[in-house]
Amino acid sequence: MSLYISPSVLAADFANLERDVKMLNNSKADWLHIDIMDGVFVPNISFGFPVMQAINKHANKPLDVHLMIVNPDTYLEECKNAGAEIVTVHYEACTHLHRTIQSIHALGMKAGVALNPHTPVSVLEDIIDDLDLVLIMSVNPGFGGQKFIENAIKKVKATKALADSKNSNVIIEVDGGVNANNAFDLINAGANALVAGSFVFNSENPIETIAELKGKG
Ligand code: DX5
Ligand code: ZN
Repeated sequence: MSLYISPSVLAADFANLERDVKMLNNSKADWLHIDIMDGVFVPNISFGFPVMQAINKHANKPLDVHLMIVNPDTYLEECKNAGAEIVTVHYEACTHLHRTIQSIHALGMKAGVALNPHTPVSVLEDIIDDLDLVLIMSVNPGFGGQKFIENAIKKVKATKALADSKNSNVIIEVDGGVNANNAFDLINAGANALVAGSFVFNSENPIETIAELKGKG
């Protein structure tokens, strides 16, 4: 199975977004990870849809959008208009998760569900058949550059087991503190998409760092 690498634009230089997006275009990145925060679901605010639209103008790869916001249903159409191909909502932010997933699909996008570090994988039992992607958070969402939570590896295994038991080919993505040291364990556990922010953008040569991660697959 192929490995998708999704560098997080949250760690890019916001004053040089065009430059950084073009760098990602020229790299082995498969997607661009776009973190939208509202200051309510998470204690931070990143950027919104006008900035995402500006990123999309220069990007030649799919936008993998991670909504860390309450009431995501309100913004699904804006996501579509701003170029999202994959939209991931948080389990913890959706009362009617099945309806939200249906709305994402109705707009022609792929749908993912993210789980905070404390949320057990078992909550996906009755929704996984409807998903294109599961996002296992390996940090508490809201900030880049945090330390990887080891328990995420166990959760990836549990997600893979649940998916296999349902004959589901759902993509298993991991987000937070991902680097070359934990990538191998995550892939072995069943992850096939890795988000990486600071590991990529704080490295001396982001293009090589992306290739290094890609090479783990
Ligand atoms: C955290 C975001 C992540 C973040 C990852 O809330 O969802 O996507 O950008 O950054 P690193 O890789 O630095 O942990
Ligand atoms: Zn993210």
